[in-house]
Amino acid sequence: MKEKSIQHHYTLLEDNSELSGQERDLLDRAWQSTASSYSPYSQFAVGAAVLLANGLIVTGSNQENASFPVGSCAERVAVHAAKSHYPDQPIKMIAIRVRKASHPIKQPVTPCGACRQLLIEIEHVQKSNIVLLLQGEEGPVMRLPGVHVLIPFYFSGEVLLS
Ligand code: THU
Repeated sequence: MKEKSIQHHYTLLEDNSELSGQERDLLDRAWQSTASSYSPYSQFAVGAAVLLANGLIVTGSNQENASFPVGSCAERVAVHAAKSHYPDQPIKMIAIRVRKASHPIKQPVTPCGACRQLLIEIEHVQKSNIVLLLQGEEGPVMRLPGVHVLIPFYFSGEVLLS
């Protein structure tokens, strides 16, 4: 029997004053993106902004449907748009912001399991980490050095291809 453990590190910043200009810009773009959210059922708007290796930023927001499983998370809208338009550009960073009309969300919200699975496959294929920046409407920013931190025992396509 072997006992094993995994340890990951991430950064919690009190607000965005300690971020680089590029990181602040990406979080701003994710926030702006919440404006295009179609979320009449949850009233929970999510915006995502993806920074590509060539410096371009692609954004997306959550798009719901009366038939609930048909909807898409903001992360998937942004990442699939980025990959459709720029398939060869690695993703360097993704910023995710959340907005509720009823009250300001003051803590970062982490991506759902399905979005983690999407992001980890991209990280794996491109062989470089995707940094995540997470923030609510205001308040602390969580910076994660890669998607593997969020989904350590992920399902890998390698088993399908072997
Ligand atoms: N949502 C996202 O856009 N991203 C996540 O990572 C979690 C959830 C959306 C889906 C749905 O439109 C709403 O938030 C409530 O779950």
